[in-house]
Amino acid sequence: MTILVTGAAGFIGFHVAQALISEGRTVIGIDNLNAYYDISLKNARLDRLKTSAHFSFLTVDIADQTAVENLFKSYKISKVIHLAAQPGVRYSLENPHYYIQANLVGFFHIIEACRQHKIEHLIYASSSSVYGANTQQPFSENTNTDHPMSLYAATKKSNELMAHSYASLYQLPCTGLRFFTVYGPWGRPDMALSLFTYAILKNQPIDLYNHGKMLRDFTYIDDAVNAILLSVNHPAKPDPNWSGQNPQSASSYAPYRIYNVGNNKPVNLMQYIAAIELATGKKALINNLPAQAGDLLETAADISAIQNELGYVPNIDIHTGVQNFVDWYRAYYAL
Ligand SMILES: NC(=O)c1ccc[n+]([C@@H]2O[C@H](COP(=O)([O-])OP(=O)(O)OC[C@H]3O[C@@H](n4cnc5c(N)ncnc54)[C@H](O)[C@@H]3O)[C@@H](O)[C@H]2O)c1
Repeated sequence: MTILVTGAAGFIGFHVAQALISEGRTVIGIDNLNAYYDISLKNARLDRLKTSAHFSFLTVDIADQTAVENLFKSYKISKVIHLAAQPGVRYSLENPHYYIQANLVGFFHIIEACRQHKIEHLIYASSSSVYGANTQQPFSENTNTDHPMSLYAATKKSNELMAHSYASLYQLPCTGLRFFTVYGPWGRPDMALSLFTYAILKNQPIDLYNHGKMLRDFTYIDDAVNAILLSVNHPAKPDPNWSGQNPQSASSYAPYRIYNVGNNKPVNLMQYIAAIELATGKKALINNLPAQAGDLLETAADISAIQNELGYVPNIDIHTGVQNFVDWYRAYYAL
């Protein structure tokens, strides 16, 4: 069984590919290795993956229809874990075009290829950002996600809708995972944990939006990977209890599921910074800034669905997770 991991040079894709290989599965990774952040980090992740005979890599831009079609024609792929996307809420304010190309056009090419090649299961990354202006905490998959607050969120919500149409029309099993702020070793340099850790280690002030009055459900990378692996083993199925009279959003008469992937223990940003201070042994200097457009002030995940249906249990608390990240960060960047 060959599994395609898109975005394999990315943070989550790298860890997922590594976990699949260590389970003895054969993995094809693709990525366009774009320069949104340091390409040498993407290449360093790939170098690790390429040491396994069970892993092969191809540079493919998912926005390129012919390249995606050729990929699916050339390899016998059974399942697809689709993680390639243009991430980040703030960047979507400045560079909206990238999001349309990677997250909408690219997503379409992948799901259409899944249909043409009768892929057994498409697992794709959605995001907690789809909850947008919904303030009913903790976020449950069946509550309203009609009010995205950024184009990034709108593309992720669109992916869920596209997936439903393909599940309905072609019985393509589709599982969407709404990740809540994933962090850990080999993490993205554009995310707060990397930015804060760098600044603290270098005695520079950290930019803190909304005076740190933000609550985030931080998910450790191993827990996020575990949620993906559990999904791989549980293809989405029609929900026998689903009714058009009272339609639930997270399941369907079609083989379609949406799950939150979080830690279920939201942390205040100041607690997060305190965990970095503890892990680095240094005090943070703070540069307070107003809230940024598009940012959600609170994200807390109701994870009961994925717990009950797939047996997902988050294991890593914030202190262990941040310490693991800081240890990796210092070693990797020789700081
Ligand atoms: N990290 C998080 O906290 C988080 C939270 C919610 C959702 N997500 C989603 O999870 C997925 C993985 O996120 P990540 O944190 O690993 O991000 P990442 O940027 O590290 O990984 C994404 C990878 O996709 C590749 N990519 C982008 N556009 C591409 C294209 N057109 N063709 C081929 N490859 C392309 C990038 O080069 C990158 O290596 C994304 O879909 C993201 O939106 C992540």
